[in-house]
Amino acid sequence: SLAGLDLLAEINRLRKERNAVILAHYYQRPEIQDLADFVGDSLELSRKAAATDADVIAFCGVRFMAETAKILSPEKIVVLPDMDAGCSLEDSCPPDKFAAFRAEHPDHIALTYINCSTEVKALSDIIVTSSSAEKILAQIPPEQKIIFGPDKHLGGYLARKTGRDMLLWPGVCIVHEAFSETELVKLQAQHPDAPVAAHPECPAHIVEHADYVGSTSGILQYAKDMTGDTLIVATEPHIIHQMQLAMPEKTFIGAPGADGNCNCNICPYMALNTLEKLYLALRDLTPRVEMDEELRLAAKKSLDRMLEMAS
Ligand code: 13P
Ligand code: SF4
Repeated sequence: SLAGLDLLAEINRLRKERNAVILAHYYQRPEIQDLADFVGDSLELSRKAAATDADVIAFCGVRFMAETAKILSPEKIVVLPDMDAGCSLEDSCPPDKFAAFRAEHPDHIALTYINCSTEVKALSDIIVTSSSAEKILAQIPPEQKIIFGPDKHLGGYLARKTGRDMLLWPGVCIVHEAFSETELVKLQAQHPDAPVAAHPECPAHIVEHADYVGSTSGILQYAKDMTGDTLIVATEPHIIHQMQLAMPEKTFIGAPGADGNCNCNICPYMALNTLEKLYLALRDLTPRVEMDEELRLAAKKSLDRMLEMAS
């Protein structure tokens, strides 16, 4: 049993012993963010995973992120505290259906959000993250036809913002879908001076109330740069932990769901990782991400294009 163990001390001992780096996404529990070597958005975490000289990457995020780390750093041991940490966007895009969709549109390239399986990455031409999508899209010739998947809200936002007409795969993030427009407008009425920052995974009826739209790290930067003292945050509420750490004098309010609070917007997949499971992952070096080498190389092509085009 783990009762009586000083988990923090044990994790600190093991990370040295294993020469491990602990990477965490902004949607992780505060206690995991606090002990991570690096906390970041999807693009930053990919870059860190590609560049690290650690022997072990303990990835505190969801499975597609840990798989991305393995694709970019195959010689490292990559552990994910809970292998069930999936993603509704990944689930919405089965590789066989995606392959069939591509086959129906042979004159389109596939620009694909990083929130997808390794198989779907292997079927794609270029991967994007929320923070890199616009920059990458701007480098694709205007006459080139594009399939964008699996997030229809991110795809729709990009299409509206850039005027590019893209064929959208109908996937959604269940977390960002859960914000209520009615409750958001009520909250804005209570805080008339507070801007709204939203992640582009939010549906259009939420994004249209936003003063800033961007990735998790973009939203964090906006919070630092804004002149006011209160911000309404329309993304997974665990990011507020980083905001509060960096700006204790400012007030951050999570955008509400239909019940009027932001607890229904906690990502259930991200929440599967706990301090206990991280400890066990470092101790036993399992659950470990493994993948077929041919599949890895196919997926790496589209990820490498992202890293080149985003730099
Ligand atoms: P970013 O951190 O790249 O903004 O991604 C958000 C997200 O939903 C990850 O699952
Ligand atoms: Fe997937 Fe949404 Fe959770 Fe991000 S917040 S991991 S997109 S389900």
